[in-house]
Amino acid sequence: MAKRIQFARTGGPEVLDIIDVTPAEPGAGEVRVRNQAVGLNFIDIYFRTGLYPAPSLPSGLGTEGAGEIEAVGEGVTHLEAGDRVAYAQGPLGAYAEQHVLPAEKVVALPASIDVETAAASMLKGLTVQYLLRQTCPLEGGETILWHAAAGGVGSIACQWAKSLGVKLIGTVSSPEKAALAERNGAWATIDYSREDVVERVRELTGGAMCDVVYDSVGKDTWETSLDCLKPRSLMVSFGNASGAVEGVNIGILNQKGSLFVTRPSLNGYADSRERLEWMAGELFEMLESGKVKVDISHRYPLAEAGKAQEALQGRKTTGSTILLP
Ligand SMILES: NC(=O)c1ccc[n+]([C@@H]2O[C@H](COP(=O)([O-])OP(=O)(O)OC[C@H]3O[C@@H](n4cnc5c(N)ncnc54)[C@H](OP(=O)(O)O)[C@@H]3O)[C@@H](O)[C@H]2O)c1
Repeated sequence: MAKRIQFARTGGPEVLDIIDVTPAEPGAGEVRVRNQAVGLNFIDIYFRTGLYPAPSLPSGLGTEGAGEIEAVGEGVTHLEAGDRVAYAQGPLGAYAEQHVLPAEKVVALPASIDVETAAASMLKGLTVQYLLRQTCPLEGGETILWHAAAGGVGSIACQWAKSLGVKLIGTVSSPEKAALAERNGAWATIDYSREDVVERVRELTGGAMCDVVYDSVGKDTWETSLDCLKPRSLMVSFGNASGAVEGVNIGILNQKGSLFVTRPSLNGYADSRERLEWMAGELFEMLESGKVKVDISHRYPLAEAGKAQEALQGRKTTGSTILLP
């Protein structure tokens, strides 16, 4: 038997149960991974609360983990039992000792990257890869605004942006988070819990404003974000930590300066094994070179997934959090 977190109804952390299941055998094209570390992500909270509907209930939770291949299904050629691997996509159910998922969503880990680092950075780091290198390929010299810069995705973004020569202005909600974002390479920080973000961006950029805004906070920051952009530049809305952005009148893009907007997802970018391997290769290079260091600030036993989610949702975490099966 193996432990697995599941939920039968949406709601608060109390809906998460830990149960014993008989591990499934991998079908054709699938692998079974024995998780050694599991990543905690905000998207897990969207599924638990019902903001994003799970395909069916009861449902497993989580999409990010790292460990060892235990069994491979028919037709799998690029992985074998004993391989050290990581993944960040696929069916819900990574909050478990064992997880069966399509082999095309799983990549082999270089020897230099340990499983905890992998579980703490696959989903968040691949997200930063596509946001900085694909959604708007940055060349260096740009000024960008990044909300929640001391969080899991934000901490990686500060370091990756710095290595590209991009000036990242990070928003945060406390002086401690500001100091962390700056240590990670943010060019400047703004405490959006007490400062006027638009005015501060104007001061910091000498009135020029930003080339791109990366907004994962959503409802609370949408309009402020648009006001921080240069004319004809890009708003990337990629998350809903404060709630979903709804009821947008598209005319606002005209009023705020002929702006562009995109609402991307990791699955939309890592949509084939070849693309996933390429994106993971860039992430692993950043980790191996030390340009990106993953800060695992919090570790919880798998059974305490609800407590870990409460801390993430309550803005009490910085960097990455992992669950240990
Ligand atoms: N589209 C994609 O492909 C994709 C992929 C990965 C992640 N994401 C998104 O990226 C964001 C960051 O994910 P993460 O897992 O790394 O989380 P995180 O950044 O570690 O945590 C979320 C942070 O958002 C900030 N926040 C602002 N308003 C909040 C509110 N009302 N409630 C809770 N937090 C609030 C908090 O930082 P402060 O206290 O500093 O405000 C909090 O620490 C999430 O929105 C997630 O959905 C999107």
